[in-house]
Amino acid sequence: MSSPSPDRPSIVVVGSANTDMVITAPRIPSPGETILGTSFVMAPGGKGANQAVAAARLGAAVTFVARVGTDLFGSEAIAGYQRDGIDTAFIVRDPDAPSGIAMIVVDAHGENAIVVASGANMRLTPADVDRAEHAIAEADLLILQLEVPDETVRHAVELATAHRIPVILNPAPAHPLDDALLQQVEYLTPNETEARILTGIDVVDDASADRAARTLLGRGVRTVVLTLGARGAWLATDGGGRLIPTARVQAVDTTAAGDAFNGGLAVALAVRHTLDEAVRFANHVGALAVTKLGAQPSMPTRDEVDAFMGD
Ligand code: RIB
Repeated sequence: MSSPSPDRPSIVVVGSANTDMVITAPRIPSPGETILGTSFVMAPGGKGANQAVAAARLGAAVTFVARVGTDLFGSEAIAGYQRDGIDTAFIVRDPDAPSGIAMIVVDAHGENAIVVASGANMRLTPADVDRAEHAIAEADLLILQLEVPDETVRHAVELATAHRIPVILNPAPAHPLDDALLQQVEYLTPNETEARILTGIDVVDDASADRAARTLLGRGVRTVVLTLGARGAWLATDGGGRLIPTARVQAVDTTAAGDAFNGGLAVALAVRHTLDEAVRFANHVGALAVTKLGAQPSMPTRDEVDAFMGD
C-alpha cells in the first residue's frame, strides 16, 4: 500500500470521457414530443472525467485512465484535463471509435435527462488499465464508475485490491453487480435510483435508505454512501447508519452533482478525514456543483469549497 500523503493525495480515476450537448428547457419532453428549449451549451463531461476534474480542482494529483477517439472532441477533452493538471498519459486515442457524447436536457428545476453514445468509452480494455498499474499501485485511492466495460471495471478493482489500494465504486449508470466484485469495494456510492437497481429496495426515507445500505453491506461492501440529493447522504458501515445532511442551494443544473460528490469524497478520504467529515465535505462539493450549468464547468475549486463551508 502507498504511504499516507495528507498534503497532496494521489488519485487514479478509471472511467468515461464525454462531450456533453446540453439544452435547457422548461421541462423534459415526453416520448414522441418536440418542445422548444431555451439555450444550448457544449461542455466537457463523462462521469469518469467529471470525477477526475473534481478531484484535481480540490487539490489532488489525478491520473485519468480513459479512451477517446482521434476526433476533435477527444483532443479538446484531453486539453481540458491538462489545463486542470490531470495526468493524461494513460488516455488512449482510439482510431476506430468516436469520442463519447452525451445529450442532456436540463429542466427549469435543474433536473436532467441524459443519453450517452459511449463510443470509445466502451472500448476501454483491461490492458489499458494494466498500462497504468504503477500509478494505481502508488495511489491513495482508485475511483471507478460504470460507463466503461464491466470486465475493465472488474480488472481495475482486482488490480487495486492486489496492491491494497482502496476502491470507490460509483455504480452509475447502475446495473446488477455480483458479490465477488462488491467484496473488493471499500466505498460504494449509489444514488437512490442506483440503490434500487442494486437492491430492489425503493429508497424513499431514512428507514429504506438504511435497509438498502445494509443489504449492500451484507453483500460485502465495507462502506455505503447513499446519496440522497438535496437531503445529503446516508452513510452506513457495520457500526450503523446515519444521515449526513447537505447545505441548501438554488439548483441550476443537477448534472454531475454525484460526480462532484465522488471527487470530493475521494479527496477527503485520501487526506485521512474521518468518514463523517469526508461525506460532509463531499456533500458541500456536490451542492456547489448544482449551482452552475454544465458538468465540468460546475466543479468547484478547493478555495470555493472552503469558503462555502465557512472554514
Ligand atoms: O454524471 C453526469 C455525466 O453523465 C455527464 O457529464 C454525461 O456525460 C454522463 O456521462
